[in-house]
Amino acid sequence: MERIDVALIGAGRMGQVHGGNAAAQPGMRLKYVVDPRADVAAERAAQWGAQPATLEQALADPAVGGVLVCSSTDQHLAHALAAVRAGKAVFCEKPIDLDLGKVRAAQPEFAGARFVLGFNRRFDPHFRALKARVDAGDIGRLESLQLVNHDPAAPPPGFIPTSGGLFKDFTIHDLDLARWLLGEEPCEVFAMASCLVDPEIGRLGDVDTARTVLKTPGGRLCVISNTRRSGYGYDQRIEAFGSAGMACAGNVHGDTTLALTGHGIAGAPIRPDFQTRYRDAYRAQLDHFADVLHGRAAPAVGYADGVAALVLAEACQQSVRSGAPVHL
Ligand SMILES: NC(=O)c1ccc[n+]([C@@H]2O[C@H](COP(=O)([O-])OP(=O)(O)OC[C@H]3O[C@@H](n4cnc5c(N)ncnc54)[C@H](O)[C@@H]3O)[C@@H](O)[C@H]2O)c1
Repeated sequence: MERIDVALIGAGRMGQVHGGNAAAQPGMRLKYVVDPRADVAAERAAQWGAQPATLEQALADPAVGGVLVCSSTDQHLAHALAAVRAGKAVFCEKPIDLDLGKVRAAQPEFAGARFVLGFNRRFDPHFRALKARVDAGDIGRLESLQLVNHDPAAPPPGFIPTSGGLFKDFTIHDLDLARWLLGEEPCEVFAMASCLVDPEIGRLGDVDTARTVLKTPGGRLCVISNTRRSGYGYDQRIEAFGSAGMACAGNVHGDTTLALTGHGIAGAPIRPDFQTRYRDAYRAQLDHFADVLHGRAAPAVGYADGVAALVLAEACQQSVRSGAPVHL
């Protein structure tokens, strides 16, 4: 298969995941790594057979067909727009940006753009299987959802100020999952939140523990449980309840071995972090971006999904501030 050159913008935690996958993707050649941390850019570029570059150098290269935006969240829109303006296909990590007004103002520029947004959970094989069952009517008419999304530990403190806070950074995955599974846009949001895990997060003006309830016009309900601390791994579960049954996707364990003794049952822990739990999802997401890059597919998740999830995240923040439900 022909390989199309791509550039990676941002070589931090997520850049490492996507850079490695891009370097191994048969339809892509990772040509440039862009990061203001010159030592990190050089090290990663050497690791993947690429070269460090500035954003301007990478975008000016006509051989570069695609850009992977993995920079800090407050840079996403600027980097994605620069790449769209340069005619590149863009994969952009979530959220699309922190500022809904700026994102909406950029709508004309995204019209027709090849833009894939990094809501990786839509590409997870377990969650896809659950959605296929729900869509096939296996549990009858979907009535409610429970989403559990618990981080094993808080991100590094340096990440918090540019992250947008718990709802725009973390809950946003669940807000997108809810939209994807419910089949109706939520019209009402109620959220409560606390800072229980790390006082430093509170000092930075953020929260680390939240419960969110969404309601759709048809009355479907979704409850989202979030925390930045679990103590037992990266807890990622979905329960979908319908008129004829329920479908659930549980945690993925290191292996399936169980030891049953007089003391009880012992098994392998669940996957410890996002890198290991969603390894397959990140690969499938990059495979999808390769299809978009080669003109074989239209983006399965893009600008409109980014806006809709951000609207819900802002409603969560507003609900926490006011203590009341927000009607959309
Ligand atoms: N989909 C997921 O599961 C998932 C998981 C974690 C993070 N993320 C998202 O990925 C993005 C990056 O998060 P992270 O955890 O990798 O953060 P990080 O802080 O580890 O990495 C961000 C990188 O961007 C670089 N950067 C900052 N400004 C830049 C610029 N102007 N040009 C180029 N690079 C720049 C930083 O130097 C750093 O290397 C965030 O938006 C986050 O929301 C997604």
